[in-house]
Amino acid sequence: MKKAHKTVLKKEAIDLLEVDKDRNFIDCTAGEGGHIKEILKRNGPDGKVLAFEWDSKMYRRLKKEGIKRLKLVNKSYVFLREVVEDIGFKPVSGVLLDLGMSTWHIKKSGRGFSFRGDEPLDMRYNKRSLLTAKEVVNNWKEDNLKKVIKDYSNERYSEEIAKEIVRSRPLRTTGDLVKAIKRAVPGDYEKGRIHPATRTFQSLRIVVNAELNNLKEVLPQAFEVLKPGGKIVVISFHHLEDREVEKFFNQKEGLRQVDLVTPSKKEVTSNPSSRSAVLRVAKKIDDK
Ligand SMILES: C[S@@+](CC[C@H](N)C(=O)[O-])C[C@H]1O[C@@H](n2cnc3c(N)ncnc32)[C@H](O)[C@@H]1O
Repeated sequence: MKKAHKTVLKKEAIDLLEVDKDRNFIDCTAGEGGHIKEILKRNGPDGKVLAFEWDSKMYRRLKKEGIKRLKLVNKSYVFLREVVEDIGFKPVSGVLLDLGMSTWHIKKSGRGFSFRGDEPLDMRYNKRSLLTAKEVVNNWKEDNLKKVIKDYSNERYSEEIAKEIVRSRPLRTTGDLVKAIKRAVPGDYEKGRIHPATRTFQSLRIVVNAELNNLKEVLPQAFEVLKPGGKIVVISFHHLEDREVEKFFNQKEGLRQVDLVTPSKKEVTSNPSSRSAVLRVAKKIDDK
């Protein structure tokens, strides 16, 4: 497979998962398999990886590689507990989540994840999901739009953007959406920092894919399937995700946060999309 995605915090995630020979691990967000392949290098000869990939195209691309000792499933990670029980995948030494989208989604999927092209307003990881970005921007009430944009990205101009989106209906493509956003914000907004549509696109992607709900659902399941002494490693890319992870790690009885890592300057320079990453590690307490 031609790689587009630069795996973020690859070495750190695998070191902190304490991958060792013959141990089993779960990767909830397979993507292009960057983390999976690193785990498999270290957990042979009999250790396995169970991995989830919700996006059917991403799933097929990785499946085609025929990687040994990998059980890849084309399901959302919210089915973690069910799949682990169904296939009897135990004991589990570690669970990894590398949240969000892959570079392939932005550059190649043609599903409107990027504000740089002119693509259909889709933004779904899984085509079977019913909600699309097109539905949200064209049919949701202005107040709801404003709330989503504000709550999911802290966008300062959420009110103006929601108003302009409603005024610009029907919006057909990401190009239409970017034009509406640019009309709503001052000309020099975020100049030289980020694209003025960054936050609105992030909010839409989160709501379309129910990303925060999925995360809230999977964390207790990850804890449940883990053996005592096992670790959960989560890499998140915005403060809303990180806040959920931090809350869970601090409040869940029997779990203790043991590490927090951010990318080095060197990694951020070579891969700017890693700049907002935060990696948290928690350990399931072993009473023995
Ligand atoms: C940041 S990428 C993972 C990259 C991977 N670690 C690598 O090195 O190639 C996140 C992946 O998770 C997938 N994903 C997003 N939500 C998911 C969910 N609820 N269940 C399973 N996969 C999901 C996305 O389709 C994407 O491919």
